[in-house]
Parts: sequence; structure tokens; C-alpha cells
Amino acid sequence: MAKAKKLFIKTYGCQMNVYDSERMVEAMNSEGYVTTKNVEEADMVLLNTCHIREKASEKLYSDLGRLRAFKDIKPDLKIGVAGCVAQAEGEEIMRRMPLVDMVVGPQSYHQLPEMNRRLDKGQKAINTEFPAGDKFDHLPERKGLRGPSAFLTVQEGCDKFCSFCVVPYTRGAEVSRPTDRLLTEAHNLVEKGVRELTLLGQNVNAYHGRSKDGAWNLARLIRELAKIDGLERIRYTTSHPNDMGTELIAAHGDEPKLMPYLHLPVQSGSDRILKAMNRKHGRDSYLRLIESIRTVRPDILLSSDFIVGFPGETDADFTDTLDLIRTVGFGQSYSFKYSARPGTPAAEKTPIPTDIADDRLQQIQSLLLKQQRSIQSDMVGHEVSVLYEKKGRIAGQMVGKSNHLHAVHVHDPDAKVGDLVRVRIVESGPNSLGGKRL
Ligand code: 5AD
Ligand code: SF4
Repeated sequence: MAKAKKLFIKTYGCQMNVYDSERMVEAMNSEGYVTTKNVEEADMVLLNTCHIREKASEKLYSDLGRLRAFKDIKPDLKIGVAGCVAQAEGEEIMRRMPLVDMVVGPQSYHQLPEMNRRLDKGQKAINTEFPAGDKFDHLPERKGLRGPSAFLTVQEGCDKFCSFCVVPYTRGAEVSRPTDRLLTEAHNLVEKGVRELTLLGQNVNAYHGRSKDGAWNLARLIRELAKIDGLERIRYTTSHPNDMGTELIAAHGDEPKLMPYLHLPVQSGSDRILKAMNRKHGRDSYLRLIESIRTVRPDILLSSDFIVGFPGETDADFTDTLDLIRTVGFGQSYSFKYSARPGTPAAEKTPIPTDIADDRLQQIQSLLLKQQRSIQSDMVGHEVSVLYEKKGRIAGQMVGKSNHLHAVHVHDPDAKVGDLVRVRIVESGPNSLGGKRL
């Protein structure tokens, strides 16, 4: 048998890319590749890129610069660029970076095997089309699962066109995967030992699948998944406030397998800025939504994304954002300095001075961190469930996630990965909790 070739894959950006990378690895397995963590021994390097902010995009070019040295030593090394930068700048990458052999956009991963054969013939390959149908259709079944918690992409793309965002352009229009296929994939995953599923989509709560018996929204999909024996936990991310339907909110109240955690980005607390961002929701409607979710699930942990320094953001707008954060109380959040993305409407507007944006970023991050730590410390004394994902660094220690998605360390020498246990939280560290097995 021919010696297996080695694939080094680097994933930038969101969880969707993590999922896509896993699927690309499976596809390349069937082409005779095994993965390696050591780029020096790779026969192929795949960079699965992110285009969401300028900094994320730039990483591709600096990594390609570094790869040049490897290719000089090993001219047979194949270099592929996948993901959203590939989608947005594919032709330009090919032109500017002769060391790149392959460019493949997020909707074309089912073409990888065929593209790889072109590379084997010494040709280059580029594919950035948006095909009709399910891009995962032609990829092999998932085998190499890495633990009890798995992602399942249920929809992709976005029709919201927030004025700052490239997603509608790089991932395309909102497409939901067929329900039957998702249920089959979920059953397969659970058979392989998965106990927690995180349903993924850029606009996951806009899910509208079809099956023989009609239309499915996310709430119905969650309730059906919850019937699978052995599947203990369901999560979903990322959601848009306008798609938080009443059935989905109700599911948070009475579906025990749906975890008490919700990532619901608001981006800004100022009505003026929300309008300029084309978010199509206001500050008050967001706050009312949070209230109705907390009514059915008081202990839900909320998480959000924020952008500071959006064009035209005044001190008063920023104060509104800080005020919204204090009103809601977020257990976890991501905050970013606005980054102008070519081709988006906001990129046409005059940016605000960098030093002001830097200062706001610092302020918002310190407030969010303070909230995160205080909500984390409040967990001390509480009883939670923990799904063990790996062994800890200390002998006998297990590490897992609580129902609220906190990382928890537990001394539990007889336990194994995949155990779902009851734990009392006894301490709160900077980034994780410590617990005692009950
Ligand atoms: N600049 C800064 N942050 C952005 N995000 C999306 N586009 C931009 C941009 N142009 C942030 C949003 C989104 C998260 C995934 O990335 O907060 O929710
Ligand atoms: Fe981008 Fe999210 Fe807005 Fe869609 S809803 S355009 S993915 S920020």
C-alpha cells in the first residue's frame, strides 16, 4: 500500500469553519491523506480562512509568506486556501500568490476530491461557486469524531445584510439543510458516542427545513432531536434577535435537553447605530426579548457580540451600549473594533478616529470581563451538570463543560471522557470553575 500522505490543516475564525475543516479532513482521508500537527512533514497544507474582520484576513497572507520557505525546500508541497477569504479574494490570491495551488470557497468543499486529482496532475484548481443543493451531500460520512460534543451545521448563509458584514457575500444567501438528512446525521453521531450537539448556522434560528411531513423551524428540529436516546444536550449558535420565535423561546422553558445558554448578538445598545447597522431591531425590542426568554428560563446565560467604533458612533451612543450591557448582564461576550470590509455599505462611511475606537474597546472589554467573572463567581455553591470532554493536566482531573457552557475542572480519577455527571461548583478561577463530583 502506498504511504499515506500528510495533511496539515489550519482553521481560522468561527465554529462553522471548525465543522467545515472536519468535513474537509474526511474528504481528504478518502484521497489517501492523514492529518498531521507538524507542518514540516506535510504534503498538503490547507488554510481554512476567515474574512469577517481585516485582521482575520491578513493572517492568511502572513501565513502564506511563512509557507513559502517550506515550498522552496519541498516543491511538491500542495498549498490550498479554503474558507471565506478564498471566496472573496480567490482569483486575486491565485494571481498574487503563485505558491497557492488550490482555492476553494465554503460552498464547494464537495469538489475537493476532484480538485485534488487535478493537483496530482500538476494543475491548479479554483472553485468559488455557489451550487444548488447540500454541499455536504457528496462528502463522506463523519468518522473521526473527537469527543462527546459535536457540531452539526443546519443552515448556512445570511439574508440580513447588516451594513458592516461580509457574511451574506462570502457565505451567500440563507440556505437550510434538509431536515431528514440532519436527523440521520444526528442519529449517526449519537451512535458514535456523541452526547451533546451544537447546531450551527450564521443565522441558525432562521432555520426552515423541509421534510416529507412539512416545514420545520428550529424549535421543531430541537424537539425532534431531543427524542434521540443518548443525546443529552442540545445547543445552537448564532442567532439573530428577529428570528427568536415564540416556539423557540418556549422550548427554552420546557425542553430539558436544550441547554440554558444563548448567544444572541446585539452589536450595539444605541438605536441610532442599530439603524445605521441595518440590524432591523431596536434596543427596546432586544431588551423585551431578553425579558421574555428569562421569564421562561430565569437561569439562562446570555452571550453577545459587540462592535465599537462603528462610523458615526458618538460618546452618547457608546454610553447606550455600556448601559445595555449593565441592564442585561452577559455571562460571556465578544467585542470587536469596527473593521471596514470592502464591498459592504458601512465601508463607504467616514471612520471614527482609531484612538477613540481603541479606548471604547478597552472600556467595553473591561466591563464585559467584570460581568463574566461576577456571573462565574455566582456559580460557586451551585449544583450543575458537567459533560467531561478531556482529561485535565493534573493526574486524576477531568475537564468538561457545565450546562451554562462554563469550563469546569473536577478531580474524578475513575471517570472517563463522555461521562455526564453532577458537580457542585466550589471555586471560580479566571477562565474556569472548579467542582466536586456529587
Ligand atoms: N467589524 C468588526 N466586527 C465585525 N463583526 C462582523 N463584521 C464585523 C466588522 N466589519 C463581528 C460581529 C459579528 C461577529 C461574528 O463579528 O459582532 O456578530
Ligand atoms: Fe452578518 Fe450576522 Fe448580520 Fe448576517 S445577521 S449580516 S451574519 S452580522
